[in-house]
Amino acid sequence: MCGIVGYVGKRRLVPVVLEGLKRLEYRGYDSAGIVYLQDGKLVKFRSEGKLQNLEHIMADAMGAPAHIGLGHTRWATHGAPTTANAHPHSDCTGDLVVVHNGIIENYHSLRKELIEKGHSFASETDTEVLAHLIEEYLDGDLRAAVTQALSRIEGSYAIGVLWTGMPDTLIAARNHSPLVIGVHEEDGGFLASDIPPLLPYTEQIVFLDDQELVVLQANNHTVYSLVTGEVVEKKIETISWNAGMAEKGGYKHFMLKEIYEQPQAIINTVSGRINPENGSVDLPEMNLSDADIAGIERIFLIACGTSWHAALVAKYWIERWAGIPVEVDIASEFRYRTLLIDERVLTVSISQSGETADTLAGIRLAKQLGSKIVTICNVVGSTMTREADGTIYTHAGPEIGVASTKAFTSQLAALFLFTLFLAEKRGSMEAAKRLEFGKELIRLAAVIEKILPALQDEIKELIESYYDSRDFLFVGRGLNFPIAMEGALKLKEISYIHAEGYASGELKHGPIALIDKDMPILALAPQDAVYQKSISNIEEIKARQGRLILIGTEGDQHLKSITDDIIYLPKVLEELNPILYTIPAQLLSYEIASRRGCDVDQPRNLAKSVTVE
Ligand code: AGP
Repeated sequence: MCGIVGYVGKRRLVPVVLEGLKRLEYRGYDSAGIVYLQDGKLVKFRSEGKLQNLEHIMADAMGAPAHIGLGHTRWATHGAPTTANAHPHSDCTGDLVVVHNGIIENYHSLRKELIEKGHSFASETDTEVLAHLIEEYLDGDLRAAVTQALSRIEGSYAIGVLWTGMPDTLIAARNHSPLVIGVHEEDGGFLASDIPPLLPYTEQIVFLDDQELVVLQANNHTVYSLVTGEVVEKKIETISWNAGMAEKGGYKHFMLKEIYEQPQAIINTVSGRINPENGSVDLPEMNLSDADIAGIERIFLIACGTSWHAALVAKYWIERWAGIPVEVDIASEFRYRTLLIDERVLTVSISQSGETADTLAGIRLAKQLGSKIVTICNVVGSTMTREADGTIYTHAGPEIGVASTKAFTSQLAALFLFTLFLAEKRGSMEAAKRLEFGKELIRLAAVIEKILPALQDEIKELIESYYDSRDFLFVGRGLNFPIAMEGALKLKEISYIHAEGYASGELKHGPIALIDKDMPILALAPQDAVYQKSISNIEEIKARQGRLILIGTEGDQHLKSITDDIIYLPKVLEELNPILYTIPAQLLSYEIASRRGCDVDQPRNLAKSVTVE
């Protein structure tokens, strides 16, 4: 995600903001910038790549006699990671600058309106729209202008604004994107996307809430509601985190932080893409014409590892609801068979990093054979997004933990949207159903957010009798089979326990020979279309004294007659069980790996992005 740092006070601006941006590097970024006010003028520096590039071009400015300014690290969402797209962005006068974290969903229409009013744009970003919108409303009162501009914005934002007309004031605001204020009676006022940049100077923190704006000066701050315009009294909290903990938002590991970020990641991936009135799905970056879509006779999904599991789930969805035959291939195998691919086949790659060599090789071959390429990816400007004909971005934000969690559930959300999109274009699903499915996907994020804390506590207790196991089986049927494999992959890659995921029905064809009183088996058994069959398979395991952990639907008393170790989950739209049932599997692998003292975020032998074949 992008990172914002701002400061106003006695200290020299550049060292405070530069050091603050370095403490936000864990959030991931691909360009950076700093702006400060000196002698009544705004001085702006921006660069692509890492902060050392910015430091290099600012070498002579380190000691600048400036005491108010803003800094930003950009994680590209709209527009490639170039200097021109790096923040801060200015209005037409150059006397006002903005830094922003989030997604302005209606920036196209606002940009068009502002150009018609004579504004000229210097970047491809959604953020620059905000600078010109504030300029449009600015009439001496910056807070009023920012308030009016934000009332036009649809989407998420955390912003910082600086204007030469108010040389001692920063204005900041947030909606669905984090922003914290640091206060110190001597040193002045600080603002940042997260706590780490503030820790060297103060532990006195004010957490802004959604739809709140702060007027920040060296020796005071006033918070206003963007809804009522009234002053909001905010509590000053004292934070006792150390810097290491703060980077992880107080979580012990990035993986755990990212597990908890999944509801927001799903919302960010879905928002602005489903019309809440009619369920219509809008995926403009996919670059597929109606004719392209009508001409699709088959879809190939190619991916590796966790992303391959997402592809396996999508096969069920697309075939059922869009009526298009789907083949799924592990990308590293895809090339070694006779591929009957031509322009009638759409090839979709799924990749968090967009740099996986096996998947890149796959799409290059498919393209040579005449197939159009769409990629589902989490990294703007990555190789895969530049080589594909179109992209569906997941907006999960950077995933630091090697074991993929929020990127995976965001991939599933994006693939579900893709299914609804295809169904709409192919007329294979009536609008009411699509609308229901879209609403259920959005509701799912809230369900996950609600159950996470108690679910983690329950699983933390449960694993005490399983964490020292040598082997583990995960089983699921239908839509849950890929999630059984995903759970097994999570466990093996971070706890180093040998784990295998199987289709429940496959156990009797061999793997059941493994089952005895020492073999733990996690079985996914929601009350879905294949529930009875799943229960039969589970009874086969019980008959052989397998140590069963069941994950099922709240209220299903029958499960208690099978085993004591049951995790109950809320009932959601059956099609969305794969997303929901992934969560306990992630938490189980996380808690077991933590209990075994493993390096959860950086497991042995693994890389976050496998750029070799
Ligand atoms: C998932 O937890 C693993 N880190 C790994 O299987 C990963 O999913 C795989 O390497 C694919 O990576 P990609 O999504 O970046 O292409």
